[in-house]
Amino acid sequence: MAGNSSSGGRQPERRGNVVLIGFMGTGKSSVGRRVADSLGFTYVDTDQIVVDLTGKPIPRLFAEEGEETFRRWETEALRQCAASERQVIATGGGIVTQPRNHEILREAGYVIWLRATPERIYDRVARNTDRPLLQTADPLATIRDLLASREALYRACANEAVDTTDLTLEETAYGIAESARLALHGT
Ligand code: S3P
Repeated sequence: MAGNSSSGGRQPERRGNVVLIGFMGTGKSSVGRRVADSLGFTYVDTDQIVVDLTGKPIPRLFAEEGEETFRRWETEALRQCAASERQVIATGGGIVTQPRNHEILREAGYVIWLRATPERIYDRVARNTDRPLLQTADPLATIRDLLASREALYRACANEAVDTTDLTLEETAYGIAESARLALHGT
């Protein structure tokens, strides 16, 4: 698996989930569904839980109530996920921007950071309008800026990193399922 970055030291007590973090367009949802199938786990997605809790699609929630309110719902969604076991938890790309989420992430399970270059991310999200933070005049520049500001946060929260730039969804999912089996069960 590319880009392993074990954090070393003692691991905190954690639940038996796989948690996917990483920027928009790194494949958390598509990969997460495949990994869940492969492990026989339930797939959950903090963005979807926010939509269910608020009754609003994310662009509308951002437009009507602002990012801070979205972030509060996102923490609530993460807390709900972290209370269960045997799930693959796909998180929104900005979950690491809130320090209160870091401990919840680590305790929720084995945290895998999906990475990709800004250009590859741009290719994957360019035609999509459901990401409010990328509705700017120069989305590639926005991706670069946001990535630069979040890189250290993803690294701090992750048990392992996978560079998905040149991998298919299937390759990424296979690698993650193997490494999750080892991390969660030691087999
Ligand atoms: C966001 C990422 C989105 C969603 C919201 C904000 C971010 O999730 O939570 O638009 O701040 O990076 P995905 O990473 O699933 O696109």
